[in-house]
Amino acid sequence: MPETIHYLDNSATTRPRPEVVAAMMSALTEDFGNPSSAHRLGIAAEKRIQEARAAVARLIGARPEEIHFTSGGTEAINTAIFGVARAYGRRGRHIITQATEHPATLEACRALAAGGFEVTILPVDRSGRVDPDQVARALRPDTILVTLMAVNNEIGTIQPVAEVGRLLRGRETLFHVDAVQAAGKLPLRVDEIGCHLLSLSGHKIHGPKGVGALYVRQGVRIAPLLYGGGQEEGLRSGTENVPGIVGLGTAAALALAELDQVPDRLRALKRRLLAGLAERGLEYVVNGPDPEEAAPHILNLSFRGVPRGEVLLHALEQQGVFVSTGSACHSRRQTLSHVLEALRLPPEQATGAIRVSLSPLTTEADIDAFVAAAAQAVPELRNLMR
Ligand SMILES: Cc1ncc(COP(=O)(O)O)c(C=O)c1O
Repeated sequence: MPETIHYLDNSATTRPRPEVVAAMMSALTEDFGNPSSAHRLGIAAEKRIQEARAAVARLIGARPEEIHFTSGGTEAINTAIFGVARAYGRRGRHIITQATEHPATLEACRALAAGGFEVTILPVDRSGRVDPDQVARALRPDTILVTLMAVNNEIGTIQPVAEVGRLLRGRETLFHVDAVQAAGKLPLRVDEIGCHLLSLSGHKIHGPKGVGALYVRQGVRIAPLLYGGGQEEGLRSGTENVPGIVGLGTAAALALAELDQVPDRLRALKRRLLAGLAERGLEYVVNGPDPEEAAPHILNLSFRGVPRGEVLLHALEQQGVFVSTGSACHSRRQTLSHVLEALRLPPEQATGAIRVSLSPLTTEADIDAFVAAAAQAVPELRNLMR
């Protein structure tokens, strides 16, 4: 097993940055007070939280008081969806989403549908994109929520969220955006998107796992999932995860500081990868959107003659290169990804898919290692599987 790790599974999770770890360590060892305590240790912990809140707000162009910390992307999304359903369920019981959303969204919608809400799940085109005209046509007087992801975690489709935000302007329907995969990779401004709610996750931006944030536009009221001591303006009771929140804040500040170079740098790395594969004569297809139009950090590929992505994953792992099949977010299930299913790919292409996902810390050496590992593994597997 090679010593060096070439980690290209950044859409599953990212390695926390050293600055994040250091900030969390000081929150654990020095500022360990309960942020609700009146003494100076409590006040110091509360100050760390407020600094983090301001940093997260800056990343998305929001005000600090519009940011509410949660236990991750999944909880932020669930709070948004159930929060709207509980607060506005009397006004209407119709929700719109689309087929390639993360399970956090789809399963929350499914649970609401079982409880008497009506959910419209819009289809996507061959690139995984939802058509804003279809969103417009699906809208009804009783539509209380539209929930869409900014970037798909498996194939990197960028959804037209700002267009949808525009068409919802002036209506009573609330708009939630799952920005977990977009944050730190693409510029994100809540006023440009026109959303009322937006979800983020720490561990996708080189922060820690188990912490996320929900933006709630000033003036919008939603119901909480958790009841108790009333922390986070009553939206998320429970003593705050101070180290996690501090880690998320640090990661958000670092992500913002690099954001004007990151998309171009990642796009260049993606081009280098595809050019490398072509140079080695490897026959591949890109699943989902044109790589130039997709999010800069996600590439979903199938190689001709390699119908099993998990076999390729392990062959690459042998060479120190870490990727994923479909999506690693939801267990090691063997079923075909619902995202690739929605694209209606030929079966072999879908089962053979691997996802290569980059981050601001990815280097040219990582990309070259992937190309070299694929150049060795793919012909071997093709012969084996013939
Ligand atoms: C698009 C998207 N939304 C939501 C989530 C869930 O976030 P978390 O792992 O923080 O619960 C993920 C990743 O797992 C994701 O990729």
